Amino acid sequence: MDNKSRERQFRSILYELEGNPDIQKMKQYSQHKVSNTFTHSHNVAVYAYYLAERLKWEVDMRALVMGAMLHDYYLYDARKSSIGGYRHGIGHPLTALANADKIFELSARTKNIITSHMWPLTFLHLPKCKEAVLVNIADKYCAFMEMGRGIVHIEQVMGKM
Ligand SMILES: [Fe+2]
Ligand SMILES: [Fe+2]
Repeated sequence: MDNKSRERQFRSILYELEGNPDIQKMKQYSQHKVSNTFTHSHNVAVYAYYLAERLKWEVDMRALVMGAMLHDYYLYDARKSSIGGYRHGIGHPLTALANADKIFELSARTKNIITSHMWPLTFLHLPKCKEAVLVNIADKYCAFMEMGRGIVHIEQVMGKM
């Protein structure tokens, strides 16, 4: 598959998921000061795909995009919730998995992406596939850009894909 076809495949899976009302729910929860969980997850999907292209890694595109869009599917506002910062940091990947698993058909790869995205903080949940490594890195990069630099859309700081 050439890069144009891969980009088409990436965009079609991304837009299909972003149009899903269950995914749209993430817009209610603010995250990283300037973003909400929906825009943050969009950024992670875009950046994880960008990294896969840069590294020329062949990836399972559906697992990558689903994992990126659902990695923070915990559905609460971390700053307003009574859950402390550390407990949220450690616990939200499994909450996201439990929520997502009720609604979506998740492959083993997608599940690994969700549960391992906070590694090494959650040291028992290691990224075990390329897609999980990409989302793990993209999540940290996007969180830094959102919190540290006030970037809402990661496309603002990326070169042309
Ligand atoms: Fe997270
Ligand atoms: Fe995240």
